Amino acid sequence: MKFVIATHNQGKIVEFKRMLEPMGIEVVSAELSEPEETGKSFAENAFIKAEAACRETGLPAVADDSGLCVDFLDGAPGIYSARFAEPGKRRLTVLEKLQGVPIEQRGAHFVSAVCAVFPDGDKIEAEGKCFGTIAFESRGENGFGYDSIFEQEGRTFGEMSDEEKDARSHRGFAFQAFEEKLRKYLQGK
Ligand code: IMP
Repeated sequence: MKFVIATHNQGKIVEFKRMLEPMGIEVVSAELSEPEETGKSFAENAFIKAEAACRETGLPAVADDSGLCVDFLDGAPGIYSARFAEPGKRRLTVLEKLQGVPIEQRGAHFVSAVCAVFPDGDKIEAEGKCFGTIAFESRGENGFGYDSIFEQEGRTFGEMSDEEKDARSHRGFAFQAFEEKLRKYLQGK
């Protein structure tokens, strides 16, 4: 089975491949237009991206919409994670907004909503979350986005190996659920 990945985010492309290829899925990228993310939830935006990519390519398409929700910021940046602050300043902006905030109030979680859309209109949806805290400073070079400021058990995602992150990340959990649903979907075909 072949899926086109509906994202321009290099960090996500790497993770999608890492998770989908062991499921026996061939993952292809394509020059896709970027639909406006007008949804009010991660799930709605994931569907918008996957549906647009499927329509453009005629192939089954998979997308995720994801983001970081910070308790102290009332869940921001949330679905606006990719548009929060200027590019290159997003992590720093979160750290600045939490300056002086004690560890007990630094709770945060990542969310990933995964959606696959098929040319016949069928869709599969799955969601994953993972909980942690916002670090006091950026640490670690691995991963992408907010990884270096999101901490679990004393280490940021930026300090973890790919395998460690996948085993505990929002996208890892979303793809575990997705794999289960995809298997059932294919059995029913
Ligand atoms: P979108 O889903 O493409 O709208 O963007 C999600 C944004 O949330 C990304 O650009 C990252 O800034 C952030 N994000 C989502 N998942 C992760 C992750 O696994 N690690 C770090 N940042 C993430």
